[in-house]
Amino acid sequence: MHPIFDERRYLIPFRAVLLPQIFTDVLVIGAGVAGLRAAQAAAEHSDVIVLAKGELDESNTSWAQGGIAVVHDDADSFDEHVKNTLDAGAALCDEPAVRRIVEAGPARLKELEQWRMHLDRDDKGALRLGREGGHTAHRIVHSHGDATGMALSKALIGVAQQNERIRLFDRCFALDLITEAGPGSRVVGAITHHPKYGLQVIWAKATILASGGCGRVYRETTNSPIATGDGHAMAYRAGAKLADMEFQQFHPTTLYIAGASRALITEAVRGEGAHLVNRHGQRFMLDVHELAELAPRDVVSRAILGQIEQAPGANVYLDARPIGGERFADRFPGITKLLAQFELEPGRDLIPVRPAMHYMIGGVLVDEHARSSVEGLYACGEVTCTGLHGANRLASNSLLEGLVCGEVAGRVCAEMIDGAPAAPLKIVSDIRPSDRSRLDVPDVHSSLRSVMWRHVGISRSGERLTEVAEMFDFWARYSLDKIFDDRDGWEVQNALLVGALITRAAAWRTESRGTHHREDHPAPDPGMRGRGVWRAGEEGAEVRELDAIAVPEKIPNPNHQ
Ligand code: FAD
Ligand code: SIN
Repeated sequence: MHPIFDERRYLIPFRAVLLPQIFTDVLVIGAGVAGLRAAQAAAEHSDVIVLAKGELDESNTSWAQGGIAVVHDDADSFDEHVKNTLDAGAALCDEPAVRRIVEAGPARLKELEQWRMHLDRDDKGALRLGREGGHTAHRIVHSHGDATGMALSKALIGVAQQNERIRLFDRCFALDLITEAGPGSRVVGAITHHPKYGLQVIWAKATILASGGCGRVYRETTNSPIATGDGHAMAYRAGAKLADMEFQQFHPTTLYIAGASRALITEAVRGEGAHLVNRHGQRFMLDVHELAELAPRDVVSRAILGQIEQAPGANVYLDARPIGGERFADRFPGITKLLAQFELEPGRDLIPVRPAMHYMIGGVLVDEHARSSVEGLYACGEVTCTGLHGANRLASNSLLEGLVCGEVAGRVCAEMIDGAPAAPLKIVSDIRPSDRSRLDVPDVHSSLRSVMWRHVGISRSGERLTEVAEMFDFWARYSLDKIFDDRDGWEVQNALLVGALITRAAAWRTESRGTHHREDHPAPDPGMRGRGVWRAGEEGAEVRELDAIAVPEKIPNPNHQ
């Protein structure tokens, strides 16, 4: 068997000692929009613990700029939002899931206002609605201009802190899920590590994975440092099914200045009228797509890459002068402040930009009730594959997905748990410490991120993907048998597993569709209009016809089939 997929290596080894134990009804791993919304719903029936591996507001949620896509205006309709989502998804969306999530948006938005989240309004009190790529209507609700994520995160943390049934554990890293009898059997909690309290076991009647994405598996990314794919890796090791792992969305416009962080320049800037120009000042998107700068992100990202390849230099430019300096500062105060640090004035200067990994589309396969394929494990947010995004995500649909599916996950799992407390198990690890040399963890992480960016990024080829898969095997041989005592080591092990899964899935999909572009298979193949589903212990992907993903009545536990 492929070494990286060898079952013995699924578990991150931990020392089998008597660990302190905590009991709860519901354990939520993640304190972003999905986890916090799930906790709020679960707390109506149960006691809940929420984990964040860093500070509570360290998440991709807090970094969101553009806003939340919600149908709100009479000039807009659910049908139109559904259509835009399906168009972006390149025939791989699960239409009933799209409709369900889109239609639940207004109710979730209403409660945000009840929880005192500020939403931007005009002088008459109507919501100010932005527009982004792939949307044919103005439907993006935002807060303090480009600070939507921070306002959302603050509001959700605020209500969670006031809820007596929710305990928030920050700086508490989940190493692995605990299963009753190995991969595929019921999940009964997680092993965690806290710098002050060390290793602990949290037993839970239900566990909700809301650990976000994996942008940090790539060198160029808009993501927060927490996004290392821990949840994808944990779920896979626990035997859950993962799907659509080959689809990553690359955001076209990330600030590109040597030494500066790869900060996102929100698509809403293009929605307000900014253009993309090449090094000669020519607007190139007009020749590429009828929606020009507001074409789907994969189209814009590849067009930028094409421009960069044609001319010396590593970036193109965003020309925000048509918006005007004053209006820009009013609408995008955060970006204005950031650019000022580099003496760039959007009303006067061109802004250097290039694409970066932005959003993980693939993840834990869940049904309409947020149930994974493993009993006791629910999931919501960026770590999941709900079928909403298909092969490409429509801008600002993920905060919406986090709110809607978070509420479902929390409500359903709290309703389904029975009175029996989780039974403590004897925790053992049969993996002996490695006798190989010590590992330079930062070096492995940085090599992995570079390789992913160069060869498993915006443009891919079968030959290069095969080479990368072999490289992952090699790295896995001497990295996955190490016992680490800190977050950096565990994260690198997770990133290796997630990188390997993405690479395998990308090699498997021999066509170009949505965000997944293969130079050796440049067109979509109607025969591949399905989902690649991956599960530990199985060689290769199982192709799922979209219709076959219809939601089962009860969770089919793979061990009982
Ligand atoms: P996150 O918000 O990323 O939260 C993940 C949580 O899991 C964190 O609390 C983290 O600490 C915790 N966690 C992870 N691993 C572990 C572990 N091992 N142990 C314990 N805890 C763990 N989407 C939109 O819809 N609109 C936008 O305008 C928008 N703008 C964006 C701008 C940027 C710069 C970025 C990066 C993304 C943007 N997105 C946007 C995408 C969107 O922000 C995310 O998809 C969404 O916030 C994900 O929410 P989440 O709750 O799933 O995960
Ligand atoms: C952006 O503001 O451009 C990002 C929005 C998103 O990723 O949905």
